[in-house]
Amino acid sequence: VFAHLVRAPEDPILGVTVAYNKDQSPVKLNLGVGAYRTEEGKPLVLNVVRRVEQQLLNDKARNKEYLPIVGLADFNKLSAKLILGADSPAIQENRVTTVQCLSGTGSLRVGGEFLAKHYHQRIVYLPQPTWGNHPKVFTLAGLSVKTYRYYAPATRGLDFEGLLEDIGSAPSGSIILLHACAHNPTGVDPSPDQWEQIRQLIRSKALLPFFDSAYQGFASGSLDADAQPVRLFAADGGEMLVAQSYAKNMGLYGERVGALSIVCKSADVAIRVESQVKLVIRPMYSNPPIHGASIVAAILKDGDLYNEWTVELKAMADRIISMRQQFFDALQARGTPGDWSHIIKQIGMFTFTGLNPEQVAFMTQEYHIYMTSDGRISMAGLSAKTVPHLADAIHAAVTR
Ligand code: LMR
Repeated sequence: VFAHLVRAPEDPILGVTVAYNKDQSPVKLNLGVGAYRTEEGKPLVLNVVRRVEQQLLNDKARNKEYLPIVGLADFNKLSAKLILGADSPAIQENRVTTVQCLSGTGSLRVGGEFLAKHYHQRIVYLPQPTWGNHPKVFTLAGLSVKTYRYYAPATRGLDFEGLLEDIGSAPSGSIILLHACAHNPTGVDPSPDQWEQIRQLIRSKALLPFFDSAYQGFASGSLDADAQPVRLFAADGGEMLVAQSYAKNMGLYGERVGALSIVCKSADVAIRVESQVKLVIRPMYSNPPIHGASIVAAILKDGDLYNEWTVELKAMADRIISMRQQFFDALQARGTPGDWSHIIKQIGMFTFTGLNPEQVAFMTQEYHIYMTSDGRISMAGLSAKTVPHLADAIHAAVTR
């Protein structure tokens, strides 16, 4: 009965790892998936996470019962505080409903399905380009996907005029997906002034902001600084959605731990919204897993653990920032043609190099360097040892 099926292509991002794993070369380098690596090229489990896991293991009072449909209550409260700020009026007024979901993707999907069912305008605008999974998540959630201009290839920066024009002409009520910080794949973020203009435009047109916050603390090293755009919107009292992921900032990739917060107009509405979100979750996966959320809640709850986390988080962010400089310097040293200053201007996990798919294919074939075909490089996968190899490959790709 399945004989008619054609073989589907690999995922454009996760498929890069599949191809990398098959490569036998000792110099192979995976700069595809956005996952942090140490200077030795190894995945990192944060010390604070290891410590909390040990505590959880030793706590004989813990069990493996089902969590509620909305997840771990402490985790939800603390996650809302982390993104919206401890003194957020929306939290104090009980206008925020937060549910634990399966990392950022799961939070976006639950939010998307909730909106498709209950929100009057089923159009979502995504930045062009955006994370490759966004259009699929929202289309399958039942929303109609459109794009707004975001990136200007000529300047390798923000197409702010285009963004304002496209968001400004979106039908009233449209959902606007915004990357909270460290835009994926471009590494280009609006400035604080530009964010304020975007906020005014979105509110004046009665559009609905939906933030994807996958890199809080990972972009600048500061949890508060990276949450500023979200807090700017929350401060005006309007409605919004936020999807949070702990994959990158706590290194909990495979634990699939994240949260969806919906900021409402009143506490009463928030209670009704939550009751409907539960109806989205229950038939999808019943309730979320307990382990990762327990780790996050323990870290967010305890002052010492929280401080330890922020130090480790900053170290990851700083290593990525220093990779940018080393990468840029290596191309300068080789006299590689072109302006590469965007490498040090862009922010977060990725550099959007401007390399085209042919150049990427050449680098994979000749240098065993793996990256997405749009020329995105995961800076977190790079180390002092591998920078020269990457720079050699890029130099060869652009001068051939
Ligand atoms: C990425 O963009 O590489 C990450 O967000 C991982 C993923 O799931 O695509």
